[in-house]
Amino acid sequence: MSVSVLDVRGFKEKGTRFAMLTAYDFPTAQALDEAGLPVLLVGDTLGIFVSGHPTTLPVTMDAMVHHCQAVTRAVRNALVVGDLPFGAYQPSVEDGMRNAIRLVKEGGVGAVKMEGPWFTLAERLTASGVPVMGHLGLTPQSYHQMGGNKVQARTEPAVDRLLDDARRLEAAGVFSIVLEGVPSEAGRRVTEALAVPTIGIGAGPHCDGQVLVTTEMLGLSSGPRPRFAKTYASLREEVIRAARALSEDVSNGAYPDPAHSYDWALRS
Ligand code: KIV
Repeated sequence: MSVSVLDVRGFKEKGTRFAMLTAYDFPTAQALDEAGLPVLLVGDTLGIFVSGHPTTLPVTMDAMVHHCQAVTRAVRNALVVGDLPFGAYQPSVEDGMRNAIRLVKEGGVGAVKMEGPWFTLAERLTASGVPVMGHLGLTPQSYHQMGGNKVQARTEPAVDRLLDDARRLEAAGVFSIVLEGVPSEAGRRVTEALAVPTIGIGAGPHCDGQVLVTTEMLGLSSGPRPRFAKTYASLREEVIRAARALSEDVSNGAYPDPAHSYDWALRS
């Protein structure tokens, strides 16, 4: 039985802290699923970490469907959540409904995520059988409005607004809320106020779950990383080392050797 949104809600009831990671492609999703991660997010950060855009804003619905399909083909156990990209739900609730249903029907995901306080859309989707993960605090699709990716909810009135939005999203039926880029105290207050789990990213230690971008967590990305982005491997160095080793082997004739070549005999 694969993980369901009810299981995710249950994590909070049981006090089970959990990790979520982003997944954009088949082999990585397979490995993360095998590692036992209960929730994988096909995040619109793929625009940055797969396609090299400076923000998530250019990501299209077609790109999201394509990557959701690759991930859901790989996953046996985890709940796969697909991100609604910028422009897929802001124009109207109907657009949001149509595009969320696309992620479920074509992408095969078990839930969708959307950024910001879109209460009516959350209500309509959950009433239609599409589970919704909310996303509050630093919402990268509002990059221009926020003046960049800046930590949010740093004042008492801003924390009150965040709490109000979180409560209203919960009332609209979301099964969890990503809290991004807020002070730990704001993360604590929202987490304690909700029955559904919060999943923090740069939101401190009090959230019920934590999410990281896999490319950063594996040390595969280049350039500066945000302070919360702890690395658990150094894959970029490993990729460079392996590519140089192959290059050297080819130039000095060490590859391919007989063990990596076909001969006349009919053996595989
Ligand atoms: O798009 C994404 O990957 C996300 C996570 C960073 C939470 O929204």
